[in-house]
Amino acid sequence: MRQALVALACGGMLLSPTLAQEGAREVTFGAVTYALSCAVCHGEAGHGDGEMADELAVPAADLTGIAQRNGGVFPAERVAEVIRGGSAVTTHGGQMPAWGLVFLKDPSGPADGQPATSTAVERRIAELVAFLESIQAKP
Ligand code: HEC
Repeated sequence: MRQALVALACGGMLLSPTLAQEGAREVTFGAVTYALSCAVCHGEAGHGDGEMADELAVPAADLTGIAQRNGGVFPAERVAEVIRGGSAVTTHGGQMPAWGLVFLKDPSGPADGQPATSTAVERRIAELVAFLESIQAKP
């Protein structure tokens, strides 16, 4: 039994991509979605200086400083919540769209061309979170 489990575990490792590869894939897809949906307000590099920044009553946050503003820890769950729910969950009443809804209605679907089911939307949000984590300013 134990041998069978070890064999299963090893087989799984051979067949599935490594965690590092999976993480890199997530970040790449997240970067694509970011460029298409977020950069217009938050800026290409996430500093809150996108083309629309001047038109916003509440500034689009500098997304490279999320961890710094949170005592050096990147709050992945909270970031996912804000992306999903938009300004309904932010504190300043800004015009941050609720991407959970936007992505669900997006006729072009996620970056990998899959239909926009709620599972696909959650994956897309997770990819954005992974991308945002990858661009955090170092302390
Ligand atoms: C129309 C402009 C606009 C677009 C487009 C936009 N945002 Fe925002 N975003 C904002 C504003 C404004 C805030 C600040 C809201 C507040 O504090 O009430 C914000 C806040 C955030 C925050 C919270 C930051 C913090 O430190 O609490 C995150 C995370 C975020 N946006 C991610 C994204 C992502 C990811 C996308 C693309 C999928 C995106 N935003 C697209 C305007 C925008």
